[in-house]
Order: sequence, then structure tokens, then C-alpha cells
Amino acid sequence: MNNLFNLTDEIILMTGGTGTIGLAFGEALLNAGAKLVIWSRGKTVPLEEIASKLAQKTGAADRIFAFKVDVSDKGSAEAGLQKVIDEVGPPSVLINGAGGNRGKAPFIEADLDVFQDVLKLNLLGGLMIPTQVMAKYWIENKVEGSIINVASATSFMPLSGVWAYDAAKAAVLNLTMGAAKEFAPHGIRVNGIAPGFFIGHQNRDLLYTDFEKGELSERGKAIINHTPYNRFGTAEDLFGTVVFLASKKASGFVTGVTLPVDGGYLVDNI
Ligand SMILES: NC(=O)c1ccc[n+]([C@@H]2O[C@H](COP(=O)([O-])OP(=O)(O)OC[C@H]3O[C@@H](n4cnc5c(N)ncnc54)[C@H](O)[C@@H]3O)[C@@H](O)[C@H]2O)c1
Repeated sequence: MNNLFNLTDEIILMTGGTGTIGLAFGEALLNAGAKLVIWSRGKTVPLEEIASKLAQKTGAADRIFAFKVDVSDKGSAEAGLQKVIDEVGPPSVLINGAGGNRGKAPFIEADLDVFQDVLKLNLLGGLMIPTQVMAKYWIENKVEGSIINVASATSFMPLSGVWAYDAAKAAVLNLTMGAAKEFAPHGIRVNGIAPGFFIGHQNRDLLYTDFEKGELSERGKAIINHTPYNRFGTAEDLFGTVVFLASKKASGFVTGVTLPVDGGYLVDNI
């Protein structure tokens, strides 16, 4: 059984690995034996800091590689992939982790520039560009790779006020299914993970009025009340799902699914 979840020798490429979700994925994948390559703009967190955070958690400094790549620029992603292949080796798993929300507004007041930025972040940089670049390489080189997209609870059920994020994450669910069908003849799997609510940089101010004091906003309280497990998620909650979907031995016949990891948020009823 241990072999099913052993990722030794796999090279896993993850975009946007500096946030809460990316760090959780990184920790799990490194502990399963993988080499982890992170693509980041290095804007919010310097590349060395990401690598050292993960090294501290896992003791796997020699298996962590961080490259400066802007995933919203196809040329940068293409050059980035060549550098990874030259310096680490060809990846067999792509995790599309870059993404996030910006603020919240009533529908008719939503700023349209912000709306476009959020769509662009989550759909172009967050999915299309890295997927095109990686899948093209895999198809040309007959690699049966695995793609993991990061969806959200809002992929299934809209959240109020975050209209572009809703639209983008619903599209992530849709594109996960469409790409799974498209790439299946090449043995490339495409799945998604839909985290419920985990405290990240991009949603902290929506969920807390004072994060340091642990004071929840009305929205934060409503989410907890609406989550049958009665809490936000923690990094550990994501470990098993990401390793399962990355491992061909464990999930080699699984494609096109998006797995919620949400403490029951999506099945809450009255
Ligand atoms: N935290 C949650 O509760 C939650 C729930 C569902 C889905 N998600 C998704 O998980 C992913 C990670 O979110 P998180 O909560 O860890 O957020 P975070 O803000 O902590 O991290 C976001 C990551 O995306 C990267 N990023 C942001 N803007 C970028 C840009 N323009 N170009 C390239 N990279 C960029 C950041 O550098 C960072 O690595 C996102 O796709 C987010 O939508 C988060």
C-alpha cells in the first residue's frame, strides 16, 4: 500500500506555491518523496524564503527548486519549463496553484478592471498558460502526466460579492472536465481540488475583522456555521488528496473530477 502513495522520482511543478494552499501541497508532496519545483513571481515572498520554509517543514532542501516565472506570460512559462527540464528534469505532475480573489462588492458596483484581473489571474495564469505549455511538452514527448487544478467551493455554489472569483472558479471546474477528455488519449489526467475555507493571504481580511485576535467577520462566522465540521480547514486536511491525485499508482484511472476538501460545506442543509 505504501507504494501507492510514494512519489519518489516524480518531479512536480507547482505554480503559486507561496500561499497557504501551495505550502500545504508542497509539504505533502515532499514528504511523499517527490522533487518539487515552484514557479513564482517572487513578489509577495522571495523565492529563497519559500524554499527555506518548505525545507524547514520537511528536511528536504535538496529536493526543492524555486524559479522566477510569471505564469500570466506564456513566453515566461515556456522559458521557465525549459529551465526546469535542463536543471531538474521533466516534470510529471503540474499543480496549477496560482490564483485568488480581490475584495468583495455588490454586483452592480463591482469594479470591472478588478473583475478582469481576477479572471486573468485564475484562468490564464492560474490554468490555461501553464497547462498549454506543460501538456504540449508531454504530448510531444509521450509523458503520461497529471494536472491538478485548484478550484473552490464557489466552483459548485456561488459565494456572494466575489463575482469574478465565482466565475473563474466555476470555469476551472468546467475546464478540468473538458481538458480531461481532450488529454485522455495521451494518458494525461486532469483533476481538481476544491478547498473549502483555509486562511490565506487573499481571504484573511474577508474572514476576520482582526486576525491577530482571532475575531471573525460576519462572513467568517457565517462560513463556520455553514460548515458541518464547524471550523476552517488546516494544511493537514489537504495532504492526502494532493498525494492521491498526483500519484498515478493511486489514481491512474481517475480523471475529470474535482474533489471538495471542505468539511462538508457543500452538503450543508437545514
Ligand atoms: N484559502 C482558501 O480558502 C482557498 C479556497 C479555495 C481555493 N483556494 C485557491 O487556492 C489557491 C491558493 O490560494 P491561497 O489561499 O493559498 O492564497 P494566497 O494568497 O495565500 O496564495 C496565492 C498564491 O498565488 C500567487 N499569485 C497571486 N497573484 C499572482 C499572479 N498575478 N501571478 C502569479 N501568481 C500569483 C501568490 O504568489 C501565491 O503563491 C488559489 O487558486 C485560491 O483561489 C483557496
